[in-house]
Amino acid sequence: MALVTTTEMFKKAYDGGYAIGAFNVNNMEIVQAITEAAGELNSPIILQVSAGARKYANHTYLVKLVEAALAENPNIPIALHLDHGADFEICKSCIDGGFTSVMIDGSKYAFAENIELTKKVVDYAHERGVVVEAELGKLAGIEDDVNVSAEDSSYTQPEEVEEFVTKTGVDSLAIAIGTSHGAFKFKPGTKPQLRFDILHEIEKRIPGFPIVLHGASSVPQEYVKIINENGGALKDAIGVPEDQLREAARSAVCKINIDSDLRLGLTAGIRQVMNEHPDYFDPRQYLTVARANVKAVVAHKIQDVLGSAGKA
Ligand code: G3H
Ligand code: 13P
Ligand code: ZN
Repeated sequence: MALVTTTEMFKKAYDGGYAIGAFNVNNMEIVQAITEAAGELNSPIILQVSAGARKYANHTYLVKLVEAALAENPNIPIALHLDHGADFEICKSCIDGGFTSVMIDGSKYAFAENIELTKKVVDYAHERGVVVEAELGKLAGIEDDVNVSAEDSSYTQPEEVEEFVTKTGVDSLAIAIGTSHGAFKFKPGTKPQLRFDILHEIEKRIPGFPIVLHGASSVPQEYVKIINENGGALKDAIGVPEDQLREAARSAVCKINIDSDLRLGLTAGIRQVMNEHPDYFDPRQYLTVARANVKAVVAHKIQDVLGSAGKA
């Protein structure tokens, strides 16, 4: 099977009341961990690559790693997606370079400019059989070099979505309902609560249309603890409660983005092994444990949060 777009995945997820996990990949171990978990659980999966990942690992290496993962897991649908494309050029480069899906993130622009830029990417992508995700509303947090403070973030306005989707022809829409990027999503002492009222209002206005949640890591406290017990210093790391993600997955949300949880699992594994075995210097010794942690995170999400196990 070749890499697929997300069209079929999203239709089934929408109708079936579950969501597809979109996990960020930066190296071989992460690609292996995600696709091994998805393969064993017979789950469709989205592997996503940010501009930072392309800078770190190189576009061609990442595409070839994903192709290798596909060869090892021929029975599950795998989509390769550009995460947070900042401009037309990076989207074009990924469309021309083997991706099956791209995100154009025009959320930093005014409504009309966001529409114009998104439509330009949609026109180019659709002619080449690639699908496009866009964003309306602004999430707080850090992605690449952009740091949006909580004050500058803003929820998606439901009254804008219909016009946006119609005018751009986009295939899925990322919305801001209280999630944020990174491992420090909520102030300590506050109760994390996604705005399901906004989500439901959006669902009503664009029925059948796939919604995307970014910033959806739940920041597993067991990994934060391992990191901090082994020389780390992550203070007040708080994520989105998993019961809220489960609720989102049952709704029009068809794609749930997770990166920080993988980073935490990976870092916990490396720190623990390095701390317990100061004599180790073979990367395979600590990366084996780190990779197993990432696989465990992904398996847990697929089975216990997203509901995509057995849906390949
Ligand atoms: O949304 C951001 C993702 O976690 C990717 O992060 O831009 O540091 O690769 P990155
Ligand atoms: P997290 O930082 O919550 O993992 O979000 C990742 C993300 O939205 C990637 O686009
Ligand atoms: Zn994101």
